[in-house]
Amino acid sequence: MVNEWLLSLARWLDAQSWSTQLHESIYMYAWVETTHVLTLAVFLGMLFVIDLRMLGLVFTDTPASKIAARLDTPMMVGFVVMVATGLALYYAIPVRSTQSIWFRIKLLLLVAAGVNAFLFRARMRASVGTWDMDPKPPRHIRVGAGTSLLLWAAVVICGRTIAYDWFDCHKQLPYFMYWAAGCVDEMAALE
Ligand code: HEM
Repeated sequence: MVNEWLLSLARWLDAQSWSTQLHESIYMYAWVETTHVLTLAVFLGMLFVIDLRMLGLVFTDTPASKIAARLDTPMMVGFVVMVATGLALYYAIPVRSTQSIWFRIKLLLLVAAGVNAFLFRARMRASVGTWDMDPKPPRHIRVGAGTSLLLWAAVVICGRTIAYDWFDCHKQLPYFMYWAAGCVDEMAALE
């Protein structure tokens, strides 16, 4: 049901001339993807510094809230550019992306990283007054920062593996993998 709906959405996007033009463009697709990759340095560069401070590993003589406040805006600008270029990359190759197990895992990880960031910010705002100058923040803050580092590293790994066709629908895969990747036609052929 969900796989069928996602595939028909992807095929609708794929039929649009702009999607084809972006995918077949000589330069634009490469520029969008290059921006998607280069903005990692801004978005994840800032985020990693904040998380490493929250783990008590860097800038331990600087108040944690000061690091977070200084790096938050460039980090969020980087995040917005990552999402915008990511949506453009998806729009250019919607069917293959929709049926990519790596893309699907990446989206789930993005949601998990977003929820973790939201909870982390709320916990930090609620308690920072008591530990802001501490070189090593309390355990619940360090757990949030460590989880953030792991989730975003997994997002990057999945983003990179999208390009590889190891589990694409045209491969011989077990039924479960066809289902997880959304290979609707291949599943129908097996039934
Ligand atoms: C905001 C956090 C994001 C991060 C950190 C991220 C990271 C990455 C990375 C590292 C790559 C591999 C680039 C390469 O080496 O070629 C990638 C590729 C890709 N990303 Fe993202 N991404 C993010 C958001 C998104 C979003 C929101 C979407 C779409 C909804 C998206 C869609 C894609 C697609 C389709 C590719 C494959 C491009 C290709 O191989 O041709 N990304 N991403």
